[in-house]
Amino acid sequence: MPEGAADSAAGDDARPGTFAAALALRGRHAVVTGSARGIGARTASELAGLGATVTLLDLNRVGAERTAETMRSEGHDARGFECDVSDEASVETAFALAASEAGSPDILVNNAGVSSFVPFFETTEADWDALVGVNLTGTFLCSRAVVATMREQGWGRIVNISSVAGKRGGGFLGRTPYSAAKAGVIGFTKALAREVAGDGVTVNAIAPGPMDTDMTQILRDDPVLLERIVSAVPLGRRGLPYEIADAVCFLCSGLGDYLTGETINVDGGVSME
Ligand SMILES: NC(=O)c1ccc[n+]([C@@H]2O[C@H](COP(=O)([O-])OP(=O)(O)OC[C@H]3O[C@@H](n4cnc5c(N)ncnc54)[C@H](O)[C@@H]3O)[C@@H](O)[C@H]2O)c1
Repeated sequence: MPEGAADSAAGDDARPGTFAAALALRGRHAVVTGSARGIGARTASELAGLGATVTLLDLNRVGAERTAETMRSEGHDARGFECDVSDEASVETAFALAASEAGSPDILVNNAGVSSFVPFFETTEADWDALVGVNLTGTFLCSRAVVATMREQGWGRIVNISSVAGKRGGGFLGRTPYSAAKAGVIGFTKALAREVAGDGVTVNAIAPGPMDTDMTQILRDDPVLLERIVSAVPLGRRGLPYEIADAVCFLCSGLGDYLTGETINVDGGVSME
C-alpha cells in the first residue's frame, strides 16, 4: 500500500465535506471536445453549472464560439475555439490557447466523434482513417496534450465518450470503423488509467446507447428505423444529452474519486447481460 494510504478497514470513512460539496467543480478548468452542439455542448454547460471554467473545442469554430457565448450569457465562464482533434498541430494550438486563457486543464472530456453508416464492403481506407482519426486518434492526441500537467499538479479527470457500438460491435447505426474506434477508446481508457493511477489522475469512459442528437438525424427522418431501434432499448426510448452529461459530471466530481479505468454504460439497459 502506498505510504499515507488507508485501506477500507483502517480508514474511518469520513467524507471530506458533504455529498453536495463533493459535486462542486469550482476552481477546475474543463476542456470539452466536440462541444459546439449535442452531448458535448450539454456536458460543457453542466460542468460549468457545477462551477467549472470551461473551454469548448470543436471543428466548427463558429458553433463553439456561439455555444460559449450562450453559456456566458447564462453567467458561466466559457470560451470556444476551433480544433480538429484528429490533427496534431491543431490540437497543440487549441490546448495552448485554452491553457493561456484559463490555465492548465484539470478535466478533459474527449467527446468529439463522427459516425458512419456505410457497410463493411463499401468502407474505403479513407472512411476508416477518418472515423479512427477523430474517434480514437483524437482521444489520444487530446489526452496527451493534458496528461503531463495533470500529473504534475497531482489531480486530473479524463472522460472518454465511447459507444455501445464499441462494446457490442454496432447493432444500431455504427458500423465497423466506428465500432472498432469506440472499442479502441475503451482499451485506451484502461491502459492510460493504469499508467496515471498513482498520480491523482483518473481515466474513465462512458458508452452511450442510441441518443437523440443531430448525429442520428437519420432516425428523425425514418420512423420505421427509429421504432426498430427504440424497441431494442429496455427503457423504451433514446437517451438525451443531459443523461450523458450527468454521468460525466459524476465522474469528474468528488463522487467519482474511487473510479478509474471503468466504462459506464448509459444506454437504457441495452448492454445488460
Ligand atoms: N448520438 C448517438 O446516438 C451516440 C451514441 C453513442 C455515442 N455517441 C458519441 O457521443 C459523442 C457526441 O455525439 P453527439 O451525438 O453529440 O454528436 P454530434 O454530431 O451532435 O456532435 C459532435 C460534435 O463533434 C464535432 N466534431 C466532429 N469532428 C470533429 C473533429 N475532428 N474535431 C473536433 N470536433 C469535431 C462536431 O462538429 C460536433 O459539434 C461522439 O463521440 C459520439 O460518437 C453518440
